[in-house]
Amino acid sequence: MLASPVHSDFMETRPEELTLAERYRFLIGAIVPRPIALVSTISTDGLPNLAPFSFFNGIGSNPMTVLFCPGNHPDGSEKDTLKNAKPETEGGVGEFVINLAVEKYAREVSGASEPLPRDESEFELTGLEMAPSVAVRPPRVAASPIAFECKTIQVIRTNPGVPAAGNVVMGEVVHLYAQDSLVNERMQVDPEVLRAIGRMGGLGYTTTRDRFEMPRGQAALDIPHPFSGNDGR
Ligand SMILES: Cc1cc2nc3c(=O)[nH]c(=O)nc-3n(C[C@H](O)[C@H](O)[C@H](O)COP(=O)(O)O)c2cc1C
Repeated sequence: MLASPVHSDFMETRPEELTLAERYRFLIGAIVPRPIALVSTISTDGLPNLAPFSFFNGIGSNPMTVLFCPGNHPDGSEKDTLKNAKPETEGGVGEFVINLAVEKYAREVSGASEPLPRDESEFELTGLEMAPSVAVRPPRVAASPIAFECKTIQVIRTNPGVPAAGNVVMGEVVHLYAQDSLVNERMQVDPEVLRAIGRMGGLGYTTTRDRFEMPRGQAALDIPHPFSGNDGR
């Protein structure tokens, strides 16, 4: 059995006691590692946009669904990606493409987070090339080994118009790409070939090169500790 935590070893507080910057730093430092979606969108007048989002995950397989979370700007306004990806009924295009962040264009992933004016493209800034999508209007990143073309299902806003509030963009995958060398006939992705990168706290990133396997469920309790030399706590 793992020992119960000794209460006095913990700092504890309520979010209201922290500044917005402290809450942000704690969230991004504590929830690690995070995968990174390099999200491509177009504006209603057809201008392409590209930005990374590490509040990103899958939702379910039937239908195949994903989510990412663009937060509000300090003035409470929406980021361009949200303006573009939100449903047509809310004034957006209702489509986006998730390109996975990988080692070979790590610098461009961060470069694409540059806050450019709406009429300037992060594709041009980073030099990442666009490739046309099949089922949606926004282009994908040509170099991306995996891409999900998505139609927006819904946006959930936790506090609309308020600085640093979050928005969940949920999308249904309508078309997907994977480089031949990445997937086997069962659609399993080889992490060694993918070489995904993830985001840690601060300016930190991680690779996915240190990996270990464990049996599922109770059987995992019987294997030798996977991290020899420490008790893992
Ligand atoms: C690796 C990385 C991950 C990021 N993840 C997020 C995120 O999950 N949510 C968010 O609002 N901003 C995130 N950002 C910041 C946005 O990319 C940045 O605000 C960008 O300018 C938004 O672009 P847009 O206004 O074109 O949508 C991240 C930046 C980097 C470098």
